[in-house]
Amino acid sequence: MEQAVLSKKIIDGKQVAKDVREELKVQVEAATAKYGRKPGLAVVLIGDNPASHTYVKNKVTACKNVGIESFLLQYDKDVDEKTVVEIVQKLNQDPLVDGILVQLPLPKHLPTQEILALIDPAKDVDGLTAINLGRLARGDEGLFPCTPLGIMRLLSAYKVPVKGKNVVVLGRSHLVGKPVALMLLAQDATVTICHSKTANLPEVCRQADVLVAACGQPEMVKGDWVKPGAVVIDVGTTRVENADGTSSLKGDVAFDAAFENASLITPVPGGVGPMTIAMLLVNTQKSFEMRMQSRA
Ligand code: GUN
Repeated sequence: MEQAVLSKKIIDGKQVAKDVREELKVQVEAATAKYGRKPGLAVVLIGDNPASHTYVKNKVTACKNVGIESFLLQYDKDVDEKTVVEIVQKLNQDPLVDGILVQLPLPKHLPTQEILALIDPAKDVDGLTAINLGRLARGDEGLFPCTPLGIMRLLSAYKVPVKGKNVVVLGRSHLVGKPVALMLLAQDATVTICHSKTANLPEVCRQADVLVAACGQPEMVKGDWVKPGAVVIDVGTTRVENADGTSSLKGDVAFDAAFENASLITPVPGGVGPMTIAMLLVNTQKSFEMRMQSRA
C-alpha cells in the first residue's frame, strides 16, 4: 500500500487533541470574559514517581496554553493522611478552584478511594467519585473520566459508527474499561466487557467491529484477534526496557500485525494519550461553567 493510504488507517490523536484544544480556547476566553476570572484547576501531586511528575508537568503546561489557571500542590511522599484530607477539603471550599485532580497512584500508606471520595463531585474533573460514576451509569449529566471521553471523541472525529455495532472492551478498570463501556452503551453499541479471565478471549475480541484494548498488558492483543475491517483503539501505555538500555512505550495491541487487519487503529504514542489531557481541560471548563451557572 502507498504511504498516504497507510497513514489514513492511523488515527491521529495529536491532531484531534489539537483541534479540541483550539475549540476549547475560544470557549475559555468567552467564559473568562463572562465570569471575570479564568477557570482554575488544582493538581495535587504526592511523592516522587517520575511518570506522575511528567504527567503533571504536561497538565500544567496544557492548562496555560488554553487559558486555564492551574494550582500545583506538591507534597513529600511521607505526607500523612490527615494533611491530605485537609488539602482536599480546603480545595473543595476554594471559590477559585473549579477542578481538583489528585494524581494517581498515591503512596501506599494513603487510602486512594477514601481520598478520592472526599472530592466535591462538582469539582471532580477526573470523574472518579462514586457520584459521577453513578451519573454516568444512569445516563445523567456529570463529569466523566478523561480517557474514555477522549476515546469517544476520537471515534466521532473519525466518524466511526457505534450504534448497533459489536464493541468489545478489554479491561474493566474504573478509569477506563467500565466508563468507556457505559459511554458506548449510551450510544446504542452492543458492548461486551472482557478481561484476563474471559474464556476464549481471542475469539471474543474477533467479534468486535470496534475493539478497545485497555488491559495494561503490553502487546496482549495479537493481530489475529482483530477482525478484518475492525477499528482498534489502544489505550495501553506501558514503558518497557529495550535490549540496548533505552526504553519505549508499548500499547496493549501488537501494532504491526493488528494494523494489517484493522480499518483504523490508534498508535502508541500519539493515539489515545494526547486526548486524555485535552479532555481534562474540557472537563475543567465544563465544571467552571456548571459552577458559575449554579451560582447565578
Ligand atoms: N494517573 C494516570 N492516569 C491518571 C488519570 O487519568 N488521573 C489521575 N488523577 N491520575 C492518573
